Amino acid sequence: MKTIDVCLSPDLMHLYPVNDRTVVVVDILRATSCMVTALAHGVQSIRPFANLEECRAMKSKNYFTAGERNGEKVEGFDFGNSPFEYMADNLKGEKIAFTTTNGTQAIAKSQGAKEIIIGSFLNLSAVTEYLKKGEDSVLVVCAAWKGKVNLEDTLFAGALVENLKNHVEPDCDAPLAAQRLYNLAKKDMVDFLKDSSHVKRLNRLNIHKDIEFCLTPDQYQTIPKLVDGELVRA
Ligand code: MLT
Repeated sequence: MKTIDVCLSPDLMHLYPVNDRTVVVVDILRATSCMVTALAHGVQSIRPFANLEECRAMKSKNYFTAGERNGEKVEGFDFGNSPFEYMADNLKGEKIAFTTTNGTQAIAKSQGAKEIIIGSFLNLSAVTEYLKKGEDSVLVVCAAWKGKVNLEDTLFAGALVENLKNHVEPDCDAPLAAQRLYNLAKKDMVDFLKDSSHVKRLNRLNIHKDIEFCLTPDQYQTIPKLVDGELVRA
């Protein structure tokens, strides 16, 4: 039977071989929610960068530059890290170079995986169905915050474990912990997360509406998949 494991922080990636796995990278607040939203609204592709200056340099190659550091838009970039910025009609068919504090770092640390796709609550059911059909075992990589475990990515990992429970067997205890936590939180995730570190950080930056949106399941069917260094619709 296929298995599912959960890497709660990219700093733990050395514990998880990925060459035979489908890796689902998740950064609920807000990087992977932005990626799903952008591709769902017609952006052609997103090239993720761990390094800010490499991302900035893509401006000269006809890419829009986008992303944040510590939750705030990077100076000189075209877009920040709010999903609402990626719904605009003028982004349809465009290419975006994207760098974030944790989300794009987690993608970089997942290199070498058999396949890398992007998860968020916004495409939860689509990702669930994709993983049910796939032949490979799954590793959910939580972007976390600068190596420290966070609640929102863990909840998403738990939602996947719960949705796949009749199809995919948990590998170890992290998937079980995430699943139990998700079942405690699922009735009202906004309330469950109200004291969490990144929700508090975003509230301090007056970013309120992104939180609720990023926690709303199944807004899109789109699954971003990394192909030749670019995220495109799977
Ligand atoms: C990240 O990649 O760390 C986040 O998406 C931060 C944010 O909410 O802007």
